[in-house]
Amino acid sequence: MGCTVVAGAFWGDEGKGKIISYLALKDKPSVCVRTGSVNAAHTVHFEGKRYALHMVPAAFVYDKCRLLIGPGANVHVGQFLREVEETGVEGRIGVDEQASIIEPTHSEVDKSNGHLRSLGTTGWGVGPAVQERAKRSARLARDLVELKRFLGDTAEEVNFAIDAGTNVILEGTQGLMLSLYHGSYPYVTSRDTSAAAICSEAGVGPSRVDTVLVVYKAFITRVGAGVLPGELSKEDAARRGWFETAAGTGRERRSAPFDFDLARKVAKIHGATQAAITKLDILYPRCKNATSYDALSEDAKEFIGKVEKTTSIPVTFVGTGPGALDIVDRREIL
Ligand code: IMP
Ligand code: MG
Repeated sequence: MGCTVVAGAFWGDEGKGKIISYLALKDKPSVCVRTGSVNAAHTVHFEGKRYALHMVPAAFVYDKCRLLIGPGANVHVGQFLREVEETGVEGRIGVDEQASIIEPTHSEVDKSNGHLRSLGTTGWGVGPAVQERAKRSARLARDLVELKRFLGDTAEEVNFAIDAGTNVILEGTQGLMLSLYHGSYPYVTSRDTSAAAICSEAGVGPSRVDTVLVVYKAFITRVGAGVLPGELSKEDAARRGWFETAAGTGRERRSAPFDFDLARKVAKIHGATQAAITKLDILYPRCKNATSYDALSEDAKEFIGKVEKTTSIPVTFVGTGPGALDIVDRREIL
């Protein structure tokens, strides 16, 4: 496995949390670095409990994995401390000294500013915090007494783990269509979400990465404003079983069918070498809880084949249910 970057394909909520929790249990990484910020929620179902993680890396399910927050991340201290307690990872989580801080005033601005409201931001304050950082007036993790016991050098630790030949996961948040550079501007988040940017935020150079895993969902969803090609009515979405609410904000997700052209473009920009497709059981209920390729229905196999053909990369993981282990792991095809 080596160093794997996990990146979202479309407008986030593809199920990166589930894929990362599976990789953590299966490949036993020594380190997982989470990038981005508190606006993204990664859902993990583990040992009968559901976690919606805004700060703690999704690989926490493997109890020997060291969990790190990268220098490019923005830390919401209250949420970070709550999740550290909820997941019981106090002794094995670190925050880079140079990660920047989301202040209460940033959240207030995010919730009240007319322009940001019109974009449908999550209201966590990430955009205003990034703005503060770009002005070079932000406080960093090293300036906060509450974070003192967690402080470290993420780039140094993660590169050491790669040098040692251990498995490492770089956990991307959101999806490429929410990228400040590549997404549907201005209806995007306040950072680049590409695989290259995930590496940059963690402090890992591109030559050190072995696998770029792009995570697609079998249909597309989006929260907030902005284009959504092929958008369905809420009734149609509900009829198909695609209607979802956001793990973080509880907002209703808009939905649309899988977009093959967009999938191809996204795979290129991420430089993806493998793909995961989550929630295939929602499209093809006969696939529910399948753990082998042979157990998938013919129409599901056709869908996988079409994704591989359009993107020119192998589909190595197929999600067939919410649990971390509801997955078809096809890495034998590589
Ligand atoms: P912000 O990132 O809170 O500034 O919000 C900007 C846009 O990105 C809004 O449309 C949000 O709904 C969307 N967004 C931000 N984070 C996520 C995420 O984790 N999943 C899905 N949408 C997100
Ligand atoms: Mg999410």
